[in-house]
Amino acid sequence: MATAVSAQRLSKTYTYRGGSTRALDDVSFDIPGGETYGLIGRNGAGKTTFLRITGTLLLPTSGTATVLGYDIRTEEREIRRRIAMVPQESRPLYFATTEQLIDGYLRMRGMDRPETHRRRNDVIDELGLGDVRRRLVSRLSGGQRRRVMVAMVLASDAELLFLDEPTTGLDPLARREVWAAIQRATREHRTVLLTTHYLDEAEALSSRLALLEGGHLRVEGTPDSIRARVQLPYRVTLDSSWSVEELAPYGPVTPVVGGHLLFTREKEARELVQTALARGSRVALAPVSLEDIFLQLVGRPLDEGEPSETAEEPA
Ligand SMILES: Nc1ncnc2c1ncn2[C@@H]1O[C@H](COP(=O)(O)OP(=O)(O)OP(=O)(O)O)[C@@H](O)[C@H]1O
Ligand SMILES: [Mg+2]
Repeated sequence: MATAVSAQRLSKTYTYRGGSTRALDDVSFDIPGGETYGLIGRNGAGKTTFLRITGTLLLPTSGTATVLGYDIRTEEREIRRRIAMVPQESRPLYFATTEQLIDGYLRMRGMDRPETHRRRNDVIDELGLGDVRRRLVSRLSGGQRRRVMVAMVLASDAELLFLDEPTTGLDPLARREVWAAIQRATREHRTVLLTTHYLDEAEALSSRLALLEGGHLRVEGTPDSIRARVQLPYRVTLDSSWSVEELAPYGPVTPVVGGHLLFTREKEARELVQTALARGSRVALAPVSLEDIFLQLVGRPLDEGEPSETAEEPA
């Protein structure tokens, strides 16, 4: 499928009285169509700025981007017809019911009545909003309101969906319902650009990820190719019968509830697990999670001598 978003040397400096902030600094990467793409990074990294620019709400200071083949600087009308967005801080209108709100949004986008009702019913089922379908939005909880916003956008026929932290504030079951709805959108060959601070979510949903840090593109690639970059690809957890001194030779040790967490290379991981099993202590071995990688990468320089900031697919 064609490229959905192509960012070309995108920079954004916000200027205001008393200063300026470089929110994006020379960012270039492509987002393939028909997949979920995850944008991750710390608070203030530039994620929302990237979404606002590619969603034609904000002009970049320099550089450009094409969205579904159209230029954000000159063809924003073409783009707006084909995208839908859940902004980071947004609330649905209060005076409508859940059903009225979703219907109104779909009708406004030009969908006919039968299709509107069909898609509205599907999304209400899918996102578990059946109990509140005829309730005023002003009488919903915060998480229910967030789900209504996500429902409106997912029920639309937009080709490209921008979801800025769609699951913030949702309970664990509601989060999974949103995940399933996002996965269904990509089965319909739509593209989803997602930001999230839940790295399990980013990993579960995204076929590719970009990590922004201080407005720079730090790492880009598939979850596996990003995992392949870290020097300590295994996480080992051990109970508190071990001392930090015993463990330190195997890799950096972090205290966790009930014991220790270590990041290690493969050889050290094997040795340590065998030793622990022989001692009869509790041990668990797993590949590092995206969250571990995030903690290993952010705020630290990447390995010396990296040819490029972009992760290659493992051979
Ligand atoms: N309207 C604005 N005026 C001035 N500075 C801004 C404005 N919007 C964002 N910034 C600054 O630009 C930087 C990037 O902000 P942005 O909202 O893109 O970050 P983010 O990655 O979405 O963060 P979060 O995870 O907290 O949502 C931050 O330093 C922020 O303070
Ligand atoms: Mg944001």
